[in-house]
Amino acid sequence: MDLSIANIIRGRRTIGSFRPEVPPVHEVENAIELARWAPNHKKTEPWRVYWVGPETARAVIELNSSIIAAKKGEGEAEAKRKSWSAVPGWLAVTCIRSEDQFRHEEDYAACCCFVQNLTLGLWSSGIGTKWSTGDVTRHEHFFELLGIAPNLERVVGLIWYGYPAVIPEQTRQPVESFLRRLK
Ligand SMILES: Cc1cc2nc3c(=O)[nH]c(=O)nc-3n(C[C@H](O)[C@H](O)[C@H](O)COP(=O)(O)O)c2cc1C
Repeated sequence: MDLSIANIIRGRRTIGSFRPEVPPVHEVENAIELARWAPNHKKTEPWRVYWVGPETARAVIELNSSIIAAKKGEGEAEAKRKSWSAVPGWLAVTCIRSEDQFRHEEDYAACCCFVQNLTLGLWSSGIGTKWSTGDVTRHEHFFELLGIAPNLERVVGLIWYGYPAVIPEQTRQPVESFLRRLK
């Protein structure tokens, strides 16, 4: 595999379908170690990582299914229960909240850089991820399951990981569509 940074950045894809085997712990630890080298203003290192074990994952799956059941019915809830139960590895990344709105925004930006480093680090070991957010990651019971207080931490996302069963194609807009060259 071409492990150049360009190839890893361009090749990383959000993975929707994983093979069942759980990647080795040390690969995930290596990616977490790498992720913390993300830029962070004032050296706040505002990220926190929760390595979600099977019991907690099951509780999150049930919470998500109950949210979906209330919104869209039992059929869709069951479909989600099935797809989420097939996810081999679970991390949750949060950001320590700051009283200062501007600092919080910058800290959240740093946490997003952290997540990108994490996903690229995993991808360089052949491990795919999906960064996932939704009603469940903002639900008060989700915070309880993680053992954190919503007023102290903000959920940046669930990061599912595992070996990809399928690597989807992706596109991006041409550079000239967003690049403005100023004098
Ligand atoms: C903050 C954030 C939240 C996301 N949440 C979801 C999500 O809930 N479900 C999902 O399928 N993808 C989610 N994604 C992944 C995007 O859908 C994905 O990055 C996009 O489709 C481009 O695909 P790529 O990552 O393969 O380039 C999220 C990405 C970000 C940055």
